[in-house]
Amino acid sequence: MPRVLIDIKGQDFRRPDHEISPLFVNRWSPRAMTGEEISRDELMRMCEAARWAMSSMNNQPWRFLYALRNTPHWDTFFGLLTPNNQSWCRNAAALLVVASKRTFDFNGKPARTHSYDTGAAWCSFALQGVMMGLVVHGMQGFNYDKAKEELGVPDDYQVEAMIAVGRPGEPDDLPLALQEREVPSQRKKVGEFAFEGGFR
Ligand SMILES: Cc1cc2nc3c(=O)[nH]c(=O)nc-3n(C[C@H](O)[C@H](O)[C@H](O)COP(=O)(O)O)c2cc1C
Repeated sequence: MPRVLIDIKGQDFRRPDHEISPLFVNRWSPRAMTGEEISRDELMRMCEAARWAMSSMNNQPWRFLYALRNTPHWDTFFGLLTPNNQSWCRNAAALLVVASKRTFDFNGKPARTHSYDTGAAWCSFALQGVMMGLVVHGMQGFNYDKAKEELGVPDDYQVEAMIAVGRPGEPDDLPLALQEREVPSQRKKVGEFAFEGGFR
């Protein structure tokens, strides 16, 4: 019999103050995953969503390097992570390193918003994954220098973050310290970051 996995929805914990699509509150970053594979096609659907993100001068500076579980690249990507992230990513189905091109393709000059643009692409990737019922979890807990070196990221590119993707799992299977944190988090009020006129 298949195991019944806990489906924790953001909307059961989060109350928006303004009317928005439930997608935004339902997206959160679980760590519990089953260890099952996802297909290359599923991953490509998420990359396809990232593809259509907006960027300054349509420069599309994002680059997504990936390893699927049970493939030869997996150990390289897994080996980049901190021990804490490895403790739950061992059940991920895909690991990605996101990099961003620092310059414009058309003139080679610095692209001021390259990280901002790549952040938009990662957000689309994550939301598409959530709509497909997958766990999508961003990470900065990994060795950036090692990622650059081992994955051959050119100097003109900045390593931004890693991502774990997987099928939702059972929180009880997480290390104890992480079980308590397996719940959608809260946010500042809109008034704390959106200011009419100048900075406050
Ligand atoms: C760029 C980035 C880096 C992150 N790094 C880590 C990490 O190394 N390990 C981890 O467990 N979570 C990491 N997180 C998850 C955040 O802690 C999480 O997104 C944040 O607490 C908000 O919670 P939510 O995504 O569940 O809404 C990261 C998230 C982002 C976007």
